[in-house]
Amino acid sequence: MTFSPLLRLAACGLLSVATLQASAGQDDSIEPGEAWPGGDTSTTDHGRNAFSSPAANLDPDRQTPFFIGNSFFKKNWVAAPASTTGRDGLGPHFIARACAGCHVLDGRGAPPPAAAGVSTEVPVGLLLRISVPGDGGKAGVRPHPVYGGQLNTLALEGITPEATVQIGYTEEPGQFADGTAYSLRRPRYRIEAPAYGPLGDDLLVSPRVAPQVIGLGLLQAIPEADLRAIANRQGASATGISGRPNRVWDEASQSWVIGRFGWKANVGSIAHQTAGAFNGDMGITSRLFPREECTAAQADCRARQAKESEWRRARGEPAYDLDDRALERTIYYTTTLAVPSRRDPENAEVLAGRMLFREAGCASCHQPRHVTGPLAGFPELSGQIIYPYTDLLLHDMGDDLADGRPDFEASGQEWRTPPLWGIGLIPAVNGHHFLLHDGRARGVAEAILWHGGEAMTAREHFRRLDAPARAALIRFVESL
Ligand code: HEC
Ligand code: HEC
Repeated sequence: MTFSPLLRLAACGLLSVATLQASAGQDDSIEPGEAWPGGDTSTTDHGRNAFSSPAANLDPDRQTPFFIGNSFFKKNWVAAPASTTGRDGLGPHFIARACAGCHVLDGRGAPPPAAAGVSTEVPVGLLLRISVPGDGGKAGVRPHPVYGGQLNTLALEGITPEATVQIGYTEEPGQFADGTAYSLRRPRYRIEAPAYGPLGDDLLVSPRVAPQVIGLGLLQAIPEADLRAIANRQGASATGISGRPNRVWDEASQSWVIGRFGWKANVGSIAHQTAGAFNGDMGITSRLFPREECTAAQADCRARQAKESEWRRARGEPAYDLDDRALERTIYYTTTLAVPSRRDPENAEVLAGRMLFREAGCASCHQPRHVTGPLAGFPELSGQIIYPYTDLLLHDMGDDLADGRPDFEASGQEWRTPPLWGIGLIPAVNGHHFLLHDGRARGVAEAILWHGGEAMTAREHFRRLDAPARAALIRFVESL
């Protein structure tokens, strides 16, 4: 027999009576699997390496490719040709030298530090996707004719980086219903020193931070039919919430699939995302993305690329930088990173927050529970009951969060509901608490306060809670 957490809180005088009444009658005990969001793959590491463990149910011999993949993820790549074959081919243009340069400790990238409302360093863990209006076909967007699909802020010696980026922040004051003041910071982006001529007036820009890369194989294994069923259910409801799947071209399977990864669900498979990141973020070509992102207008980049191809031919190496084995091991790695177990899931305040999360309508989009289907080659990830807190669907989040840059079927207002598992451990792993697609939010409360569009009702629900109820809701989210 357990006491209702709300009654226990009431005894301490923490929650308002109104909140208590609103919560009455709801089931307040957790489901057996909730403490283990990644099912049998969950890890109990809650320290700096909380995002870096292999799925806990991988046999030792199945862990070997994980650790090899880890080395490809962590290591800095260098310019070709180098004595370290198998790890050369960086650039000519790039944003970082390693996956882990942005996904630090497999975790969340941060926007650059800012002083007096202006960034003081070139962003690394935050990149700018760019494009021009028009149909993107299998690329999802029309890349900029001169600068390509994302802005490269670094380059090999002798090559010009495409540009630098400065971020300015404006503080905007607001108030909770109880009169408590808050301030939100709105970012604006200035692209400086464009090396290959002006970017033009029709440039579309989408700033995005590197998310933590945990539990991705589990998300890949959620059956498409289940995602469609959630979309149908939302569409039929009177909540004003109606998510829809993105539909994207997948290079790995050579087919159109539901998008699951990226802030706009703009990528359909871990394989595509991994090979695409090597190519787009580091200038590393592979079987899936065999061409360097040097456009016709970037003569220095193209000349450097041609030289590199010559070296590769002379050495009898494949035409691309990354061999299939290395690519496969890295994909294995990004597929099998474990999700951390919950902290204090049965704490009274956490349980009160759990109920408020449902009442506020957060759970409509941040769908708590899924059951994974089969995933070829990964029996460990199949048939797992998982708690990622996402529907993987696109939602209109309003003007304030809009980037105005469509991506496949996602509009400029739409974003994919990000999974919330592990979110409370970002400070422990990455030493910061910046959230949302561009890292503008300083913690969970600000992230909620930026919600608009379909999530307006949920945000207003949060804004009307009293201080102890807000704290409980935040503590619940941080326990995920
Ligand atoms: C320059 C920074 C940067 C580098 C380097 C980088 N990433 Fe990423 N990564 C990102 C960003 C930003 C996103 C979100 C992309 C989007 O929304 O389109 C992302 C998303 C991902 C995702 C999808 C995660 C999710 O939940 O949607 C995976 C997997 C991933 N990256 C793997 C890699 C691998 C593997 C490498 C190295 C080959 C790599 N990344 C290198 C910035 C980076
Ligand atoms: C209509 C769907 C929807 C509802 C309802 C909703 N969210 Fe979200 N949530 C999103 C989307 C989409 C994003 C990503 C927005 C962005 O990055 O610009 C997000 C982002 C977040 C983030 C930041 C995640 C990260 O990884 O940076 C948190 C925390 C969050 N939501 C919590 C909540 C809470 C708590 C509630 C209820 C008060 C809620 N959300 C209601 C869709 C929703």
